[in-house]
Amino acid sequence: MKIAVVGTGYVGLVTAVCLAHTGHEVRCLDRDETKISLLRRGVPPIFEAGVRELMEENKNSLIYTADPGEAIPGAEVIFICVGTPERADGYANLAAIYESAEEIAEHADRDCVVVVKSTVPMGTNEKLEKLLSSRIRRGIRLEVASNPEFLSQGTAVRDMLSGQRLVLGVESETAEAVLRRVYREFDVPILVSDRKTAEMIKYASNNFLALKISYINEIANLCEAVGADVETVALGMGMDERIGNRFLRSGVGYGGSCFPKDTKALHWLARYHDFELKTVKAAIEVNENQKIRLIKKARRYYPCLEGLNAAVLGLSFKPGTDDLRDAPSLQHVAVLLDNGVHVRVWDPAAMEGFRRLFTGSVRYCSSIGEALKDTDICFILTEWEEVRAFPLVMFPRLMKRPVVLDGRNCFDPGAAREAGIVYDSIGRRPVLGDVAQQ
Ligand code: UDX
Repeated sequence: MKIAVVGTGYVGLVTAVCLAHTGHEVRCLDRDETKISLLRRGVPPIFEAGVRELMEENKNSLIYTADPGEAIPGAEVIFICVGTPERADGYANLAAIYESAEEIAEHADRDCVVVVKSTVPMGTNEKLEKLLSSRIRRGIRLEVASNPEFLSQGTAVRDMLSGQRLVLGVESETAEAVLRRVYREFDVPILVSDRKTAEMIKYASNNFLALKISYINEIANLCEAVGADVETVALGMGMDERIGNRFLRSGVGYGGSCFPKDTKALHWLARYHDFELKTVKAAIEVNENQKIRLIKKARRYYPCLEGLNAAVLGLSFKPGTDDLRDAPSLQHVAVLLDNGVHVRVWDPAAMEGFRRLFTGSVRYCSSIGEALKDTDICFILTEWEEVRAFPLVMFPRLMKRPVVLDGRNCFDPGAAREAGIVYDSIGRRPVLGDVAQQ
């Protein structure tokens, strides 16, 4: 099939390469000329496993362009994969969706199905169809379908080609048939619903996962207060199939491009309908506090933080990505600097992005060892493999005082005790080592 994909971010590019991989001819449209020239040279502008290889393997069926007049004409299916970032009031900003619609209306020259993959509030697809139908050339039949994405960064290609479900939100059998043809080669169960239900499935899923994380984080904080161990609690809870063992890792809170914005958008949407989603509101609040949980802990060891030298290991919102959107590190490092702490950071993928985003002055280190050198405290914010594999005995050798606050539970407290460090993680009993509280 001839397919156009509008937007070459995580969702757009992964969608495009997977569709090309399953036999379609795909034109990728992005107004960012820099991205387009990178893509034409075979370089993905995102850090995502498998994308570069699929671009190379399918280069004959992929075209990259910044010109809607080249991408849209002739397309039977047009995917909208542009961002819907958070507005200042928490609602989703749909400007890019409507700008894509304008381009589609101007250039579509045949009957087609416009498929919205971006996460949009319930009712957006319906509005979009009205807008497109009023602008499109006479005689062309166009339908809008909702097909939310459920991709996790780091495993996006696998999630798309053999994920757990494809949700097709359609209002006609024609649109359903077209989408089934698009996904003919995909090894994924399909659920068909109306458009609003499909839009809601996406929000309800992401909000539920965010709730699950905030729940285990609150339980972790309580575990610390009563002296229980959250890792074993999560293990025990997860053995119950009704609960499931995934998304029960406690830590310094969720970040990324989806959970923070989707929780706020659903909360906003509920308020608009005179409702309060109390559980979602609580998840948002818990997450905000959790992001700076380690700073509160630091005060146990250093009542005054001013003048301390601190190492921060991990900046991206999770391992395997350079993405810093809503990463706990942004807030964490800002609070440290506000408190007069000298900060050294290390991350294997996200330092360049951090440098661009973050205005505060920090020292960028090219190894974990360099970051730890002569510091008074170390904060672990992302569970990179390099951090997990770092020998615990090196902490006391490199640091001035080996106080390690681990926001991702990377190490075994027993091993930390043997290494002679102060080791305080999330939801587990702290190891106070030889260095008593000051
Ligand atoms: C998420 C959803 O998983 C995906 O289905 C949706 O389409 C987009 O949002 P992603 O943002 O890539 O994907 O990352 P994910 O692996 O879900 O992690 C999100 C955040 O939650 C990270 O900051 C991660 O560290 C945190 N997290 C995740 C936890 O703190 N504990 C967990 O148990 C799982």
